[in-house]
Amino acid sequence: MCGIVGVVGNKNATDILMQGLEKLEYRGYDSAGIFVEGGDHASLVKSVGRIRDLRSKLGIDVSGTAGIGHTRWATHGQPTETNAHPHTSMDERFVLVHNGVIENFKEIRDEYLPHDDFKGQTDTEIAVHLIAKFIEEDGMSVLDGFKKALSIIEGSYAFALMDAQDPDTIYVAKNKSPLLIGLGDGYNMVCSDAMAMIRETSEFMEIHDKELVILHKDSVEVQDYYGNPVTRKSYTAQLDLSEIGKGTYPFYMLKEIDEQPTVMRHLISEYANPDGTMKVDSEVVKAVQKADRIYIIAAGTSYNAGYGSKIMLEALTDTPVELGVASEWGYGMPLLSKKPFFIFLSQSGETADSRQVLVKVNELGYPSLTITNVPGSTLSREATYTMLIGAGPEIAVASTKAYTGQIATLAFLAKAVGVADGRKEAQDFDLVKELSLVAQGIEATLSEKEKIAAIVKDLLLTTRNAFYIGRKQDYFVAMEASLKLKEISYVQCEGFAAGELKHGTISLIEKDTPALALLSDPEVAQHTRGNVMEISSRGGKVVTVAMERVANADDDIIVGDVHPYLSAIAMVVPTQLIAYETSSQRGLDVDKPRNLAKAVTVE
Ligand code: AGP
Ligand code: GLU
Repeated sequence: MCGIVGVVGNKNATDILMQGLEKLEYRGYDSAGIFVEGGDHASLVKSVGRIRDLRSKLGIDVSGTAGIGHTRWATHGQPTETNAHPHTSMDERFVLVHNGVIENFKEIRDEYLPHDDFKGQTDTEIAVHLIAKFIEEDGMSVLDGFKKALSIIEGSYAFALMDAQDPDTIYVAKNKSPLLIGLGDGYNMVCSDAMAMIRETSEFMEIHDKELVILHKDSVEVQDYYGNPVTRKSYTAQLDLSEIGKGTYPFYMLKEIDEQPTVMRHLISEYANPDGTMKVDSEVVKAVQKADRIYIIAAGTSYNAGYGSKIMLEALTDTPVELGVASEWGYGMPLLSKKPFFIFLSQSGETADSRQVLVKVNELGYPSLTITNVPGSTLSREATYTMLIGAGPEIAVASTKAYTGQIATLAFLAKAVGVADGRKEAQDFDLVKELSLVAQGIEATLSEKEKIAAIVKDLLLTTRNAFYIGRKQDYFVAMEASLKLKEISYVQCEGFAAGELKHGTISLIEKDTPALALLSDPEVAQHTRGNVMEISSRGGKVVTVAMERVANADDDIIVGDVHPYLSAIAMVVPTQLIAYETSSQRGLDVDKPRNLAKAVTVE
């Protein structure tokens, strides 16, 4: 959510900032801007809308050797050009970009800046005025003024600050919001993620919360807020630039849906030995074995992936699994078991809500595991253990391959724990074979795109609302299927436990209300079919997605049989395609739905 990029040194800063902002677009934003200096003059250019709108406003005179750029996802004030970042001090000497939320901005304004005029409504503008006040009115150095402001500011932030009188320095600080240093030869960079810098460098350095970094073209100085120097090693990232291209696909989402069989096979090679035994860190396995309850904390699609794994995890580990909505648990944990083990599921590894819970878990001293797609991400660094999904960059805001990859990764963990415990269920579960079948099943579903497109045209093109229903595992998939449809097609959709419909919600069914029924479990399929009849007899228009073992000849979409533990992976794929088709047939921006961001780095 939102993004920051900065560069200082021997490069064309405008080019680097613009390319970096383009790479950050996937995170979601509503306006953008850059500040460049070190050439003939300093330039500040901002625009509402897309990076291409910003680009169209750049004259050839916007050039220099240093600068900072920003994509904004508005939290305080409308998404206007005035509120877009960078923000400046009153005399325009200090220039600041910010990702996050300054919680005490009103108190700061009233106490320190009662006479200042502000151009817009953002919390960020107050921060840059505060910094300028300490430097210009109280005579502090830029570094001390910045530090003093940081000691007052509360909340989440990634800051990059420049002084229009000093084109050789960028000051950086962070708390809770993501930010990373990129190291180059004769230049240095700062950015919200590594992917947006990979064109320029593959050498990175982490910044921890409440650290300050002074960037010059050939030096990077890290210190804490008290001025104590911090020694930090850089690392080389294994990122492949070619992986972030869209190729011939119209949208990243479709590419990412198509990549899922590859992700399944990659996970087999990552977490299984050639003899079929598990290659999972024995320390994680031991830690889970000791637990009397597994708590899965996550948000959105990752939360749904937790549910998609619950039945399998409980069966294989013989340990109860409880799910926690990260944004709720951050503010109050329920009564925990005596020996909890926490699993954080997060594609990005940067979700602020999940991180808030992890901070508490760490304070309490409980062991934790992050399952993420982003190596070196905040949640990965701060949890006791990490398992990587290795699905390759997920660029579309709508998460697809991360959901299926998370469930598959959890399957390797669950099997390893179950086998270590000597549980027969785990020994008998041939995960490598079953996951290979899942990969094949997904491929078969992917070859049904035209059929799915036709169903969507008939069912979902103009509707304002819809329902997904299912029982047991299929109910959990219904939750994810409806989230996917909502977020990219703006169709209001509820994922419902099929049997619960008659307890109130069925009153919403009227003529042609679309309802999609998910059927994979022989034990409950007939009951769900009963609910389908109830919907049809009230005029609803039903489409059935059924797994072969429970399918009838007249079911609309048939999914190849897979092991019940892994059925969420196979059953979700047609629903991803349904969401994709609905959005693209409606002419919407599939990859960048309105109001949403890829990495939700605010609470
Ligand atoms: C998924 O399609 C959504 N964009 C969203 O719900 C997402 O899954 C959620 O914000 C959690 O993100 P994370 O997996 O990166 O933590
Ligand atoms: N709170 C700031 C604003 O509303 C920053 C938002 C962001 O992270 O993009 O401008």
